[in-house]
Amino acid sequence: MNRKAIALWLLVAAAGLAGCSDREVYKDPAAAVEDRVEDLLGRMTLEEKVMQVTQWTYGKNMNVNNVESETKAVSPMIGSLLYRSTSPAYYNRIQRKAVEESRLGIPILCGFDVIHGYRTIFPIPLGQACSWNEALVGESCRVAARESRLSGVHWTFSPMVDVARDARWGRVSEGYGEDPYLNGMMGAAAVKGYQGDDLTADGAIAACLKHFVGYAYSDGGRDYHYTEISPQTLWDTALPPFEMGVKAGAATVMSAFNDISGIPASANRYTMTDILRGMWGFDGLVVSDWDAVKQLVAQGVAADRAEAAAKAITAGLDMDMVDDVYRENLEALVESGRVSEKVLDEAVRRILRVKFRLGLFENPYIEELPDEQRYLSTEARAAARELAAESMVLLKNRGRTLPVAGDVRRIALMGPMADNRADLMGSWWGQGEADDVVTILEGVKAEFAGKARIDYVKGCDFDGGDRSEFARAAAAARGADLVVLCMGEKRNWSGENASRASLALPAIQEEFVREMARTGRPVVVLLSSGRPVDVRGVEPAADALVEIWQPGTEGGSAVAQLLSGKVNPSGRLAITFPVCAEQQPVYYNQRQAARPKSGRYQNLQHEPMYPFGYGLSYTTFEYGPLRLDRETLRRGERLTAEVEVTNGGAMDGKETVMWFLSDPTASISRPVRELKHFEKQFIPAGESRVFRFEIDPVRDLSFPDHTGKRLLENGAFYLHVNGQKVKFELI
Ligand code: BGC
Repeated sequence: MNRKAIALWLLVAAAGLAGCSDREVYKDPAAAVEDRVEDLLGRMTLEEKVMQVTQWTYGKNMNVNNVESETKAVSPMIGSLLYRSTSPAYYNRIQRKAVEESRLGIPILCGFDVIHGYRTIFPIPLGQACSWNEALVGESCRVAARESRLSGVHWTFSPMVDVARDARWGRVSEGYGEDPYLNGMMGAAAVKGYQGDDLTADGAIAACLKHFVGYAYSDGGRDYHYTEISPQTLWDTALPPFEMGVKAGAATVMSAFNDISGIPASANRYTMTDILRGMWGFDGLVVSDWDAVKQLVAQGVAADRAEAAAKAITAGLDMDMVDDVYRENLEALVESGRVSEKVLDEAVRRILRVKFRLGLFENPYIEELPDEQRYLSTEARAAARELAAESMVLLKNRGRTLPVAGDVRRIALMGPMADNRADLMGSWWGQGEADDVVTILEGVKAEFAGKARIDYVKGCDFDGGDRSEFARAAAAARGADLVVLCMGEKRNWSGENASRASLALPAIQEEFVREMARTGRPVVVLLSSGRPVDVRGVEPAADALVEIWQPGTEGGSAVAQLLSGKVNPSGRLAITFPVCAEQQPVYYNQRQAARPKSGRYQNLQHEPMYPFGYGLSYTTFEYGPLRLDRETLRRGERLTAEVEVTNGGAMDGKETVMWFLSDPTASISRPVRELKHFEKQFIPAGESRVFRFEIDPVRDLSFPDHTGKRLLENGAFYLHVNGQKVKFELI
């Protein structure tokens, strides 16, 4: 053989060998996820990579803020879809195209806003937080995950763990209130509920912590506005729930719309790369919020869409939701060297990792089950009812107006929320349908059947000036033993792009409540809202006042059980109710002030209307002395605190003990009190239960500086429980 022939032979042999060893590792379920990711990435063209980092929408749009023309032809190469259809058949058809017609057969990741339920709708997250019951919150997510996965959704854009302290911001309804720890605990419970222990299991979906980070600080509570957050506040308040969610195993994170003191969250390398990946070790994917990459131009940090794409992906934003900026620009950006292919590879790697973790390569299709086998099972409805009942907060109960006494024979049930279905679901109702909802009227009629007659008159609308039914309503009230008024907010008054300058109900509702109270009959006001309400216009007229939030599909039944006393209210506020919007910001864990008793408004009371943690019960709980097992502790040691709580009333009930810590002197001033632990227990009437908190100095007594470094400083600390306060020292 001459040299040329030998060379040719060698080449052919090498190619043959390469062919033999070209085992498609990524198709092997037994191979490690990282090996599968690398193998697949190594086979992808630039175009395929760019398609992986792209998300389009599919299906009917229900979000008024995100109007987008429906995607008619789904590319089989698309990385992800915002999947709004509920049809398993459509889903299988689209997925089959991706798996069987695309060159590499990469399945599509389908995401959807399953915020508080998919078809069975649970209370809004703010209400869920008021239950202080992580097990029920987790269960609601488990139910939602099952209904979603059976309909082709593998990924929810939930939970939202934005610590929200301005009730004017409509999105307070979507998170877990004003406290970082409570947001973190509920967020972690949600993550575990959605994802379970194994993302490949039937009925598990990937969770998404959002909006990373600082979105709730929108200036003046105006949605989408600029946010000013100091590095210290970022670390103290905004970041902790995200860190807890990452530790709980959240598969994905969504970047926020807002900019953080000038650097938009979607182009923020510090938050998305240095903190999230560098400090916390997160290896899942980060998706943008809707159109957020494109919006970098509007936010003034990118001259055009190409620059927006370059900034976002280099900062660590892996997937572009809907605006198509990545798809249009990334190939050219990589080819010209403005964006390194390594950066794109890393984004693709993170997306593929989530797809492998979800088991999509092994199980891309779903069983085409009819609706009744997917949704609204008896168990799902029961879980929704239980969580709704525990989320409701009894704010006032003069002379034991509630529960409804046995001699009540006629109840006048009125107000715009009484016979309403859609608004009881709140914003982001997933695939919930109004027809599934039990109205308050239906719930109360069923609960009191054979005991009391229910007279329904709507009486007034949510707003406007129509008083034409006032007289008829007053007559019904006069003829009743008890008047129940169902007032509140329409579902589109909170949620995204739903900021309100005033927290009061419209004048017509306040007037109606006062008119009904004038009849002299005992009045119960049920408030259904997506935010704290300025109750000055209704509270004086109400003998009993209950915040029922937007309680979801089983809302009416839950309300009825609370009224009858079948359920003893156990909800406690996860957010402070200010007296009025002008009193804001008002939240319990403020930093210590130079003159704590001065500097108050001259023309408004200082105390909020109802503080964080507030909520009444039909029974009374008596707290024994707060005991510590030691007065000093060293690093590495634990201190155990205990308190015994007795149900001194006649009705069984649940009590939540909230444990707060304060650190009066530190190198960086700490808040007046911080929630560090909570526990809810059932206590039968006449019995006692012990509640415990084991203090771990590193976890509970340390705090971050403005770079996130945790400081643990010796000195005095105080433990606070229900008005009691005891001192201990770290030495
Ligand atoms: C919202 C997100 C949501 C996304 C997708 C955005 O407008 O801010 O919370 O997940 O739309 O619907």
